[in-house]
Amino acid sequence: MKKAIKGNAFWVGKVDWELKKFHGEEYSTHNGSTYNSYLIQEEKTVLIDTVWNPFAEEFVDNLSKEIDLDKIDYIIANHGETDHSGALYALMEKIPDKPVYCTANAVKSLKGQFHKDLNFHVVKTGDKLDIGNGKELIFVEMSMLHWPDSMAVYLTGDNILFSNDAFGQHYANDRLFNDLVDPAILYEESIKYYANILTPFSAILRKKLQEILSLNLQIDVIATCHGVVWRDNPMQIVEHYSRWANDYQENQITIVYDTMWNSTKKFAEKIAEGINLEDPDVTVKLFNISKSDENDVITEVFKSKTVVVGSPTFTNGILPSVAGFIYLAKVLKFKNKKAAAFGCYGWSGECVKVINEMLSGAGFNLISEGLRINWNPDEDAEAQAVEYGKTIARA
Ligand code: FEO
Repeated sequence: MKKAIKGNAFWVGKVDWELKKFHGEEYSTHNGSTYNSYLIQEEKTVLIDTVWNPFAEEFVDNLSKEIDLDKIDYIIANHGETDHSGALYALMEKIPDKPVYCTANAVKSLKGQFHKDLNFHVVKTGDKLDIGNGKELIFVEMSMLHWPDSMAVYLTGDNILFSNDAFGQHYANDRLFNDLVDPAILYEESIKYYANILTPFSAILRKKLQEILSLNLQIDVIATCHGVVWRDNPMQIVEHYSRWANDYQENQITIVYDTMWNSTKKFAEKIAEGINLEDPDVTVKLFNISKSDENDVITEVFKSKTVVVGSPTFTNGILPSVAGFIYLAKVLKFKNKKAAAFGCYGWSGECVKVINEMLSGAGFNLISEGLRINWNPDEDAEAQAVEYGKTIARA
């Protein structure tokens, strides 16, 4: 069912209430998601983006109930990833000759995934498309936000920025607009999306935000491809992005560990106690990574000034759960965060050395040589762990 956005722009996407994992099994979506597609009906009729493959048939059926598909003049493909292009080729079977506007990289990604040529029209930043009634679409390349093919498009007159993935969040809802949904969920899903998807591209994002702001475009609405349409103070999400893209951190220390016989868990709790004793104002959060959602923990790391990582020694190394987590943090390229290692051991005791190497390799600034405890911490070792927590809090 089509829903009005502003003027003659409408939402024609799909709400995916059931989705619990996105990107295969890579990203948890506790609140589902939406694939937002938009229809603009001026003198020319324009479709912006489509939906994920499993909903292709439903999408084309629904769209054909709203409009004679032959009346579509232009299709805009802002991004080739299949959550937005998955229904494009099903649609193009009905209207094969219609022009598809996208970046040069999007042609590569669409042809690479679907192995079929379309009537592609390659656009660059600043290119315009007249859609009648005095309105134009202005294209803005958004390379690496978050794929090389990403693009946004701005509708003059109604001042809508169709931003694709940027400013989105995985949040299934039937209310569509940011002022009609739960603001706490909206914020958490937005920062999780940034932390887990956009963190590696923060430097590019800083430049792109400047570029967009220097265009002096009046932005009344930001229509993303996931989650809500920002119509109430839409620049609030741009301001959040400005902060998040600048090595964001709160007064938080996050302790991430795994444990085999609870010795390293006890160690983690004593470190937390020491941090609290030294600095009662700092927020401390503990996560057993094997029992936690990895994407949620990454979001907590994103908010943190320091991350403390622990594992027992396991076959001359560390537990794979902890190693995998540090690897994930590494590819997300966190900047300006401190880190410290800890762990218990029985025999060979490599845990802290291995964690230190991995944390350094992941770009964290180590604040100490780390602390390891032999066997299950006794009273003296617990006191050492508390002192270690105090050291971390002071760093
Ligand atoms: Fe929502 Fe990069 O796709």
